[in-house]
Amino acid sequence: MKVDLLVVEDLWKFYGKEVILKNVNFNVEKGETKVIIGPSGAGKSTLLRCINLLVRPDRGRIVLDGDVITERRDVHNIRSQIGFVFQHFNLFNHLTAIDNVLLGLIKVKRLSREDAMRKAKEALLSVGIAEDLWRKYPAQLSGGQQQRVAIARAIAMDPKIILFDEPTSALDPELIWEVLNVMEKLSRNGMTMIVVTHELGFAIKVAHEVMFMDGGTIIEKGLPEQILLNPRSERVRRFMERMWYLYSMDRKFWRSENAK
Ligand SMILES: Nc1ncnc2c1ncn2[C@@H]1O[C@H](COP(=O)(O)OP(=O)(O)OP(=O)(O)O)[C@@H](O)[C@H]1O
Ligand SMILES: [Mg+2]
Repeated sequence: MKVDLLVVEDLWKFYGKEVILKNVNFNVEKGETKVIIGPSGAGKSTLLRCINLLVRPDRGRIVLDGDVITERRDVHNIRSQIGFVFQHFNLFNHLTAIDNVLLGLIKVKRLSREDAMRKAKEALLSVGIAEDLWRKYPAQLSGGQQQRVAIARAIAMDPKIILFDEPTSALDPELIWEVLNVMEKLSRNGMTMIVVTHELGFAIKVAHEVMFMDGGTIIEKGLPEQILLNPRSERVRRFMERMWYLYSMDRKFWRSENAK
């Protein structure tokens, strides 16, 4: 049976008189990977920040695993159930890789040092960060390694869902690949994820559904093949034409090789 892990209902957000989110509605099933695509200023980050309770919506509800989290005041408790991976990694620069992962396990989850250590090591290994890197500081790691540590930090907390906000857009091309690989593996292992990204290859291959956002609202959603290759609305079609041009890719390739 399909179970909705996250339900977003009629979500609105204003800054002053400006509408940032309007009437956003969608569900994420347990184990589903949802990709959000859309132009700058569409409201993608604001939407993720509402789900993580970093931003309070002005109207609407967000339900996580049956809990109406928009009505809850114990924000830290809710936030500990939701992983967040940012564009710029957001690691603590004064802490080593492993201490970055340990912090939440000890301070928030209140695990013993021994249990926290076991979990942190497991999470770091699962994203391909081997022992020789555990004691390094973020400044001593590549961008791709830093982002994988950030993903390990999220995974270690056993979150119900992980939100990714353009996790590879600050990375060099070779490093993008290693981070997307880790995310693909997570998705295949059944993690529930929402990923804001313009990586079309990842969206086609990994997403169960793609949502296109513009002007604070979801204007089209559907299977990746449909949204990325054959959108219904003129707005999405124009955006996707440009994206494919930037990627200099032959769309037929994706149709034949990667169609699920
Ligand atoms: N704290 C804030 N105060 C006022 N306006 C804000 C604030 N945060 C975001 N906005 C505005 O909300 C709109 C949506 O911003 P948001 O960052 O959610 O877009 P985005 O889709 O993530 O864009 P990008 O692709 O550039 O990251 C923008 O017009 C932005 O200027
Ligand atoms: Mg953004």
